[in-house]
Amino acid sequence: MGITSKPTVFAVLAAAVVLIGTTVTVFIPLLMPSTQPISPYIKPYTAVEQEGRDIYMREGCNNCHTQTVRPLRTEVLRYGEYSKPEEFAYDRPFLWGSRRTGPDLNRVGGKYPDSWHYKHMASPQNMFEKSNMPPYAWLAKNPLDTSNSFKKTSVLGYGYSERDVQQQITQYRTSVTDDNYASKESRDQVTPPELRKELTEMDALIAYLQKLGHDVKNMESKK
Ligand code: HEC
Repeated sequence: MGITSKPTVFAVLAAAVVLIGTTVTVFIPLLMPSTQPISPYIKPYTAVEQEGRDIYMREGCNNCHTQTVRPLRTEVLRYGEYSKPEEFAYDRPFLWGSRRTGPDLNRVGGKYPDSWHYKHMASPQNMFEKSNMPPYAWLAKNPLDTSNSFKKTSVLGYGYSERDVQQQITQYRTSVTDDNYASKESRDQVTPPELRKELTEMDALIAYLQKLGHDVKNMESKK
């Protein structure tokens, strides 16, 4: 007489096994502090980069661009170091995407100077005749709305004070509106004169693009 002929005992034992399995795989990890790898090199977005990220989502850039380099030779050769789990610690929501009409952008930070991005965002077709990326020239005509920047960074738990956020905004504005800004010429070409001393949506979007993969490049160079 095996256990299979005793349905009650079998059911109780099966339930016990499932319960133990559930406890071990679900509840114990829940109570552990964190199973996510954490890197001191990965820094939260600044208020301006976060605004840029929101514009990236608003415009649906993620419908054409992924932000994850898979650990495959062809991808690493094309885009650079493959994506690491800790990189996405501050990505809420994540923007890994699933379609690559355009190239992956997870390593685009630092790949080009800001001037390249101003020209490319204003008219991809001027740079690559056959590009099917839509032009976003009008982003340079929209002043950046920073009225909710502090609220956003605090909801996302970046740990900035209201002053930090103001400082980040002022600092970025000062750097891109400075007469010595390396990409001044291209910025001025796409930005209407009345907004040249202000932050525009395009400025913020470019700040965000330049942040992508930036921390990982630091992490890799210190290894
Ligand atoms: C309809 C699809 C589509 C959309 C939407 C789109 N892109 Fe693109 N993007 C492309 C294609 C195709 C390329 C490659 C050709 C080129 O550089 O123009 C590209 C290239 C790029 C590049 C250069 C990448 C590199 O490594 O050379 C950046 C940066 C970029 N896009 C940013 C954006 C941003 C930011 C948005 C949203 C505001 C956006 N794209 C929206 C299709 C798209």
